[in-house]
Amino acid sequence: MDTLHIKGGKPLSGVIPISGAKNAALPLMTAALLTEGDVLLDNVPRLTDVRTLIRLLTELGCEAEFSEGSADSFGQGLRLNAANITSTTAPYELVSQMRASFWVLGPLLTRFGEARVSLPGGCAIGARPVDIYIKGLEAMGASIEIVDGYVHATARNGLKGTHFRSSLVSVGATHTLMMAATLAEGETVLENAAREPEVGDLAACLTAMGARIEGAGTDTIRITGVKKLGGANHRVLADRIEAGTFAIAAAMTGGPITLTGLVPETIDATLSVLRAAGARVDVSGDRVTVERTAGPIRAVDVVTEVYPGFPTDLQAQFMSLMTLADGESEIVERIFENRFMHVQELARFGANISLHGDMALVHGVKRLTAAPVMASDLRASAALIIAALAAEGETIVNRVYHLDRGFERIEEKLRACGAEIWREKA
Ligand code: EPZ
Repeated sequence: MDTLHIKGGKPLSGVIPISGAKNAALPLMTAALLTEGDVLLDNVPRLTDVRTLIRLLTELGCEAEFSEGSADSFGQGLRLNAANITSTTAPYELVSQMRASFWVLGPLLTRFGEARVSLPGGCAIGARPVDIYIKGLEAMGASIEIVDGYVHATARNGLKGTHFRSSLVSVGATHTLMMAATLAEGETVLENAAREPEVGDLAACLTAMGARIEGAGTDTIRITGVKKLGGANHRVLADRIEAGTFAIAAAMTGGPITLTGLVPETIDATLSVLRAAGARVDVSGDRVTVERTAGPIRAVDVVTEVYPGFPTDLQAQFMSLMTLADGESEIVERIFENRFMHVQELARFGANISLHGDMALVHGVKRLTAAPVMASDLRASAALIIAALAAEGETIVNRVYHLDRGFERIEEKLRACGAEIWREKA
């Protein structure tokens, strides 16, 4: 297995282009199953999660072809065509590798009247059930059985519009139900829907495909079903979690680092927290510059929330920053019940963190020292890199395949800012 090596303590400064968002690209790719037409995506990040989903889509009979991205995009082009779907079964081997694979359920069911999709199972960050997906699809008239670990959903006469209020805010259930409703008969109203920008990005692409959707980006989405959807061209939204990660790295190491090609308002909550922690943040158009020239890192309390609150996907990275703060910071994780695996690994750098249920109490220390560490999930890996950039000595990060799931060319981007970081192939 590859390892990443980082010699910390170097001041970082430079410009980092932000990639297309993994969490936008994945649902957009599943939307291609809704049509016989070509869905042409631009700015698709080069990530293993994207390749994992392509394996599943091609298994179902979808064509997938990469091309050069447009000149102003960091990512690549991707043409998907689902005119000749040969299977509506998403097998365990592929769905278990990545939860977003489960999202093929909505498009397959609404277009073909049937889908068998393996349950994704729990994962390192929590149990992650799918009860809301099932209740929502049942409310649209689907019959659902769980057989041999598979969700077997049928709607022989098509799905019907409904009024569905979700008991909690779920990004994936919102994607799934919104896609399912595009081809359902009549109007569907989704209440307590996720407001994450990736939901808005999916709605924009679906609308370009001919769907009728209002209110995406608010907690009530109205979808009027249409008979058929066509192809579309769509550029994947910039990755707010990648942007937030580099913004935190800038605050950790001093900066200035300028992030380009993002939508700054999608990281408002993160930028406010960074300002409170003592960073200077300048926003101009699609660029954000973060630096911390003078003074210590200030301790700030954070609670993870659904959008537009502080994202759970930046909790680990922010905790790394707080390990060097002047004072004590309380970090509360409200979205996932087990998203603190990085705590033990951060302790290996000399961080002082204690866990109290869903709250981590971080006592800032004066310095971090390099250590061999192990990545436990995607965002935790980024947290280890942020700590390593500030730690004295050479850190070795093991299990970097987690990182490759969701950060495009992270070493290259950090090296361009002066970081001493390299990968050793196993
Ligand atoms: C998406 O996961 C993201 N994944 C996650 O990013 C992100 O952390 C999460 O949203 C929250 O923002 C992708 O976009 C591919 P949820 P998702 O359904 O949709 C509970 C990353 O690192 N829940 O909004 O799976 C669930 O267990 C990943 O990129 C139910 O109880 O998250 C969790 O506690 C990690 N029943 C909470 O809701 C359900 O039926 C929010 O989960 C569905 C969810």
